[in-house]
Amino acid sequence: MFLKVDDKLLAENTFMNNSFLLYAKRICIAAFLSLNTVMYAQKADISTISEKTLNSILEKNRNYYTEGKVADYIPELGKMDARAIAFSVVGKNGKIFNTGDIHKKFTMQSISKIIALMIAVNEKGEANVFDKMGYFGTDKPFNHFSNLETTGKPLNPMMNAGAILTTSLISGEGEKPFLKILDLVRYITKNNTIDYNTSVYESEKSTGHRNRGMFYLMKNNGLISGNEDQLDNYFKQCSIELTAEDLAKIGYFFASECVRFDGDTKYKNAEMSKLIQSQMLIAGMYEFSGEYARTVGLPSKSGVGGGIAVSVPGKMGIGVFSPALDQHGNSSAGYHMILDLVKQYDLSLF
Ligand code: DON
Repeated sequence: MFLKVDDKLLAENTFMNNSFLLYAKRICIAAFLSLNTVMYAQKADISTISEKTLNSILEKNRNYYTEGKVADYIPELGKMDARAIAFSVVGKNGKIFNTGDIHKKFTMQSISKIIALMIAVNEKGEANVFDKMGYFGTDKPFNHFSNLETTGKPLNPMMNAGAILTTSLISGEGEKPFLKILDLVRYITKNNTIDYNTSVYESEKSTGHRNRGMFYLMKNNGLISGNEDQLDNYFKQCSIELTAEDLAKIGYFFASECVRFDGDTKYKNAEMSKLIQSQMLIAGMYEFSGEYARTVGLPSKSGVGGGIAVSVPGKMGIGVFSPALDQHGNSSAGYHMILDLVKQYDLSLF
C-alpha cells in the first residue's frame, strides 16, 4: 500500500508507541512474576519453622478445645485433661520441633491402624489384604458397619471394621500380632519406652461391643478365622501410649518412603508409603476426609485419644494432640493448628 508522508509518520509513531507499550507490559509481567515467586518461596520455606512459630500457632488455637468434647464412650478416655495440648514437627533431615505439653502421653487409638496396615501388607501382600476390603473413601463415621451387611467386606482399612480385619491378618498366635505393631511403633519413633496403657485397654475391651459385633460379622462372612485374641490385639494397639513428637515421627516416616527420622533405611519402601498415605488422605479423617483434603490437603490420621499424625510427602511429619474432639471424632484444636501451619507454609498438596 502507498502511504503519504504524514500517514507514514503516524504509522511509525504508532509502531513505536506500540512497541514501547509492549516492552513496558513485558517488564510489568516479569516484575509481577518474580515478586510472586519471591512471595511463594517465602511462604513455602519450611526451613524457617521453629519452636517459636509452632508456639504462636498453638497459642492462637488453644481455646478450640472448648468447641470439642473429650471422648468418653471408652470410659478411661474420658479422664483426659481437655486443656492439654501439644504440637510437634519433624522437619528436614529429621530435625525435631516441639511445643506445648510435650511430655503428655495419650493413646494413639486409630492412628495405630496405619502401622497395622503396613505390617499386614508386608506379610500378606497388598493384593491379598485388599481382596478382603476396599480402597473406598467414606461418608460414614469410624465405627459404622457400612457395607459389611451388603458386600460383606469393610470399606477400607481406616474405619474400625477394616482395621480389625487388618490386625487379624497379621500372623502369629495370641498377642504376637500386637507385639509386632508395638515393635514397629517403637522402631519408627526410636522410643523403646512406648507401651500400651492397660487401663485403657481393659476399658476398650469391656465396652467395645460394637467392635465385637463387627468382628463376629466378619467371622460369619469368612473374612476372619481366628478367635477373640485377634480383637484383643486391636484393642491393645489402640491403647498404645505416646506423645505428639512420636506422632510427628510416624508422619515423617510415611512422608519419607518409610525412612526413619534419623535416616535409618531398614523399612525403606516407596510403594508402601504411597499406599499408606493414600489411605490416610481418602479415609484418615473419616467422613471429614473430603473437606479436610480441601482445607488441609495432606495425608493425615486421627485418633479419638486426641492425636493426629500428618505426612507432608517428601518433606516432614506433624504431630498434634488436644483431646477434645469435634463431631467427626477428630481433635478440634489439633485440626486448627494443622490448618494454620499448612496455610503459613503453603504445605497443601493442591
Ligand atoms: O475402636 C475404637 O472405637 C477406638 N479404639 C478407636 C477409634 C478411633 O480412634 C477413631 N478415630 N478417630
